[in-house]
Amino acid sequence: MIFVGSHQAFRIGYGEDAHALAAGRPLIVGGVPITSPHGTVAHSDGDVLLHALADALLAGYALGDIGQHYPPADSAFKGMDSAKIVKGVLVILDQHAADFSIVNVAAAVTLDHPKLGPYRQQMQARIAELLALEPEQVGVTFKTSEGLAPGHIQARVAVLLAS
Ligand code: C5P
Ligand code: MG
Repeated sequence: MIFVGSHQAFRIGYGEDAHALAAGRPLIVGGVPITSPHGTVAHSDGDVLLHALADALLAGYALGDIGQHYPPADSAFKGMDSAKIVKGVLVILDQHAADFSIVNVAAAVTLDHPKLGPYRQQMQARIAELLALEPEQVGVTFKTSEGLAPGHIQARVAVLLAS
């Protein structure tokens, strides 16, 4: 463990997620419903950003991943609001490291269409609300796949944790 300053230990967390897109399905990214002709084919609500965030938080303390804590085969999690997964993961972290805090979140979403830029502030606000942070602590960037993966959405999230 690395200690910096007054006995503070920092840990990095990183997570990824991807889902296939299909016409007529809902698209929810970072807890925000997106107006879109296609959405995710998923067991839960298919929010790749919140799934990658939850995995990043778990990875930061080597506590497994969301597939382990919320098995896809378990019907209890069908159509589940991913905000509940993030809240559940925070409880798991709290049990492991009661004094932990999140320094910042950095997220990247790859999606060819539609443009997510108009939703950036809403995503920052929603993620900040879920994590009890300020929106300025939540960076969210968007990229297309340049047409290489038009039928997919992907998210990658890094978090810095301190305890
Ligand atoms: O992938 P590309 O570099 O062409 O994306 C250009 C810009 O378009 C990104 O920096 C981002 O601001 C925006 N973008 C977006 N929504 C997406 C993909 C890209 O707002 N789904
Ligand atoms: Mg997922």
